[in-house]
Amino acid sequence: MASRSTVIFPKDWIWGAATAAYQVEGATREDGRGPSIWDTFCRVPGAIANGDTGEIACDHYHRTAGDIALMRELGLGAYRFSISWPRIFPTGSGRPNAAGLDFYRRLVDDLHAAGITPHVTLYHWDLPQALQDQGGWENRDTARRFGELAYTVAAALGAGVHHWYTINEPWVASFLGHWMGQHAPGKRDLRVALLAAHNLLLAHGEGLVALRSEMRPGDAAGIVLNLAPCEPATDSNADLEAAHRADGFVNRWFLDALYRGAYPDDMVRLYGDAMPEVEAGDMALISQPTDLLGINYYTRNVVAHDPAAPPLETRRIVPVDAPVTAMGWEVYPRGIYQVLKRVHDDYAPGRMLIAENGAAYDDSLVDGQVDDPEREVFLHDHLLEVYRAIEEGVPVGGYFVWSLLDNFEWAWGYGKRFGIVYVDFATQERIIKRSGHWYGHVTREHGISG
Ligand code: FCB
Repeated sequence: MASRSTVIFPKDWIWGAATAAYQVEGATREDGRGPSIWDTFCRVPGAIANGDTGEIACDHYHRTAGDIALMRELGLGAYRFSISWPRIFPTGSGRPNAAGLDFYRRLVDDLHAAGITPHVTLYHWDLPQALQDQGGWENRDTARRFGELAYTVAAALGAGVHHWYTINEPWVASFLGHWMGQHAPGKRDLRVALLAAHNLLLAHGEGLVALRSEMRPGDAAGIVLNLAPCEPATDSNADLEAAHRADGFVNRWFLDALYRGAYPDDMVRLYGDAMPEVEAGDMALISQPTDLLGINYYTRNVVAHDPAAPPLETRRIVPVDAPVTAMGWEVYPRGIYQVLKRVHDDYAPGRMLIAENGAAYDDSLVDGQVDDPEREVFLHDHLLEVYRAIEEGVPVGGYFVWSLLDNFEWAWGYGKRFGIVYVDFATQERIIKRSGHWYGHVTREHGISG
């Protein structure tokens, strides 16, 4: 644990917490919402731990008033949430569903009334099933459909939303969803995953164009990437090269495309025939300047060469004796600093935010309280490392805890709790955890003390 000291964050620093539509809203069949690929994936036997689904989740759809009151109690300055695409376009195209737009319009208004700034992500993985039926992210046309979503949402909410993110974690949506089969739509084909990744990046580009047509001066738009330092398990050449490939797979593939306008040569060679076709103009669309880069940081990757794992020939290992969270992810606060510094030094994207950082632990409710000292230490130590980046001149402007609430953790269902607020899923009661009370203190003090 880093030593306790007093640090005060910059004046315009943003303190926030994040959620995503499918993970918290529930109400999957209400007010005209169509099915998403996650509704479908949840019905695949064995896909989700315990057979859990997002059908009810945190029932946030019906409980926004209470949840905004919680945000106030936590002293949040900002709330990052995502738009459920199938609430807006239940069949993927055609006329937008007014009830869907109204839900988010009310949410934005209520947040402003509570003095909380909305940060809106347009795609956090819940593609309308109707678009999946036409090929989903394997179909270039999905990128154009995403442009329509961006335009429609910006036209409806633009007066109240000044911070936009197109796509959350294209690496997860493409590779976990289309190569490793762990996320919707559950495919297992590298060629398909690379095509999906390209189309997700095109969607980001189409989304930016659409947002910019509606944005007002001073508004900001960007993308959210999951980034992780990739370090070799030993100093052997084989491991060093494996770590470089892993970095190409997770980090450089997206950073190079977005901020250099080209996929990295070494990875293009490695992917060989699996590479998607890149049309003239694609890379220019993808690499338009962003005003904001959201970074999600959870852990680092320690990488070993593994000839049994083609084509990347890498294996991710957790160092012996390292502290881990309930996900089995190494607790490595220094990595958040490394990522911020590296992105700034190598890509200079301008303003960055930590759009997600947090940890799952096996919390339990005892006598009406949730005592989660590990999460408190986790957040504290990561925040100190973010502060170190600020001190070194990295333009990072805010921090969002993942997550406001315990919620539907994708393939892990409700078994993994990331919230600073505990949710009793049987009653929907919310209880602020010890880490939440601590974070409330931090947001009010505007820093970490004592
Ligand atoms: C990120 C996702 C978020 C949540 C956290 C734990 O990859 O963006 O929805 O699942 O991980």
